[in-house]
Amino acid sequence: MRSYAHIVGWGKYVPRRVVTNEDLSRMVDTSDEWIRTRTGVRERHLADEGETTATMALEAARRALEVARISPAQLDLIIVATVTPDHLFPATACLVQDALGATHAAAFDLSAGCSGFVYGLAVAAHLLETGAYRTALVVGAETLSRITDWSDRATCVLFGDGAGAVVLRAGENEGGVLATVLGADGSGGDLLMLPAGGSRWPASHRTVAEGMHYLRMQGREVFRFAVRKMPAATREVLEKAHLSLDDVSLLIPHQANRRIIDAAARALGIPEEAVYVDLDRYGNTSAASIPIALCEAAEEGRIQPGDLVVCVGFGAGLTWGAAAVRWTLPQPPPLPGWRRLLHRLYYPLAALRSWARRLVRRVAALWLWIVGERGDRDQPRS
Ligand code: UT7
Repeated sequence: MRSYAHIVGWGKYVPRRVVTNEDLSRMVDTSDEWIRTRTGVRERHLADEGETTATMALEAARRALEVARISPAQLDLIIVATVTPDHLFPATACLVQDALGATHAAAFDLSAGCSGFVYGLAVAAHLLETGAYRTALVVGAETLSRITDWSDRATCVLFGDGAGAVVLRAGENEGGVLATVLGADGSGGDLLMLPAGGSRWPASHRTVAEGMHYLRMQGREVFRFAVRKMPAATREVLEKAHLSLDDVSLLIPHQANRRIIDAAARALGIPEEAVYVDLDRYGNTSAASIPIALCEAAEEGRIQPGDLVVCVGFGAGLTWGAAAVRWTLPQPPPLPGWRRLLHRLYYPLAALRSWARRLVRRVAALWLWIVGERGDRDQPRS
């Protein structure tokens, strides 16, 4: 019998600090009017000093697990889609796994730019469908403010920070992720990139002096690519699911630019009210943009059981992806206080467990060192 990957939990986290277009117009040569009319962004949330991609991913994940009523110990797989991981390695997904106390989960990061969440959803759904795993967490999380050149008006007005997460569960009832399409065209890799910090240009005085640790984008080219790819990927995923545009209840596009979203909706003939837009409040949060929008739409009651939701994204790589999802669950009532407390109690225990494991590792290393020293002393001298 075929297994389906159902979305059973959703959660988001955005930092508290809000930066408006007015604030930016005091930093670079821009205006609220230009930003609003050219992009649709009014404000964005930016991470505070102590916040990172992992901390935001963790909070979104906790909320998604609460909605799903699932304990972290039940997770088999954690995927974090991001282009702004805490470190090149270990994977941010492993930091999340440890902080959640997801002791039975495999964990890895996925880099597919702003298409990352759709890529992650596709990978997790396929693994659930094969029966390899039963429960997966897919997170899209970004701290783009840390790779933004705040003196470059062409890019700094566009981006924001945040995280969104979904919990997927395998089930036999039809629904959930019905079809996905993923694509890539690496010939456009230089259109949107973070040049330094990898093996080609490791961090050095030179890379910092030349600003190569900042995101670079050829906006117009990416714009043209997006306007072409969003409708094409949407059509393709519907065809794969044997559905039509008339079946779509809500389109959740990557939130990069209002003009891109409007052009895609026009090309598809989807009415404005069937397209979810929140980029006015969050800006472009890359891999986090689709799960944040998905979560908000569910919380607002814009998605109901039986609805067909299409998520479609494009981004660095260049990459694109779309997923057709039959929603199966209503937004559950908030957990009663005591159950919420029980859920949250799990996390200090996870932190304690992590600390204990580090301690055991240190004690073991010390013991091996002592035994090794003694062993060396016991060796006969030649
Ligand atoms: O998530 C995936 C990655 N990103 C995207 O999807 C972004 C896709 N691209 C875009 O959204 C748009 O190309 C932008 C919003 C980035 C730029 O909009 P545009 O309509 O393509 O503007 P442009 O780059 O053609 O620039 C038009 C003018 C230029 O001035 P001149 O040469 O005409 O005198 C720019 O210097 O606007 C100027 N400009 C600005 N003016 C005020 C560029 N940025 C700003 C700014 N404020 N922030």
